[in-house]
Amino acid sequence: MLTLALSKGRLLDPLVALADARGLRLGLAVTGAGRALVVEAEDLRVLLLKDADVPVYVEQGVAEVGVVGLDHLLEREADVLRLLRFPFAHCRLCLIARDGVDILKDGRRLLLASKYPRLAAELAHKRGRNATVVPLAGSVELAARLGLADGVVDLVETGCTLRENGLHPVEDWLKVAPYLIANRAAFFVRGDEIRALRRTLGGRP
Ligand code: PRP
Repeated sequence: MLTLALSKGRLLDPLVALADARGLRLGLAVTGAGRALVVEAEDLRVLLLKDADVPVYVEQGVAEVGVVGLDHLLEREADVLRLLRFPFAHCRLCLIARDGVDILKDGRRLLLASKYPRLAAELAHKRGRNATVVPLAGSVELAARLGLADGVVDLVETGCTLRENGLHPVEDWLKVAPYLIANRAAFFVRGDEIRALRRTLGGRP
C-alpha cells in the first residue's frame, strides 16, 4: 500500500472530490477528515499534514507520494519528482500592499512579510526589488494592514482576503498550482504503483 501525504488545508476538499470522481477511495469525507492524522483507506494510507510539511515527508520517503502546491515545493527546494499538475486550486503568489499606498514609488528598500521567506526573497531579487523578508507563520495580510511590514508576499486565489483587509496585489510573482509528487527512490522501486496512481488522478473521469 502506498502512503500519500496530503495537507489539511485548501487542497483537501477538491482533491477528495477528484479522487471520488475517479473511483479512488481515500477514506476521507469531502467536508474534511476529522481529527485523525493517519487514515488507512482501501487503496492507500493517507497522512494529513500541514502544507509545508508535505514535501518533507515525501523527500524523506516516509510517504512515497504527496499532493502539495508549487509554493511549498519551491520554498522547501524539495528534491522530489513532480508527476502531475492538478487542474484545481490555481492561484498566484503576489506582492501585496495596503490600499492607497504605492510601495514601489520611490524604490526604497522594502520590508516584506511572508510565509515563504526563502522564495519571497528569491522572487524579489529576480524582480529587482530591494527587500528584506520577515518570516511569519500565517495571517500575513495583517502585517501589511497593521504596518508591521510595507507589504506581504502571499497567495491570492479569489481575492476575498485582500478585499476584506483593504489590500491590493501590486505584482504577480508566481503562478501556483498543486502537484502530485513522488519520492525519487520510491518511484524507482514502486514505479508501477505510483504510475497507476498518476493515471487514476490524471485521467479523464
Ligand atoms: C491563503 C493565503 C490567503 C488566502 C487567499 O491562505 O495565505 O490568506 O489563502 O485566498 P483568497 O484570495 O481566496 O482569499 P491558505 O488558505 O492557504 O491558509 P493559511 O493562511 O493557513 O496558509
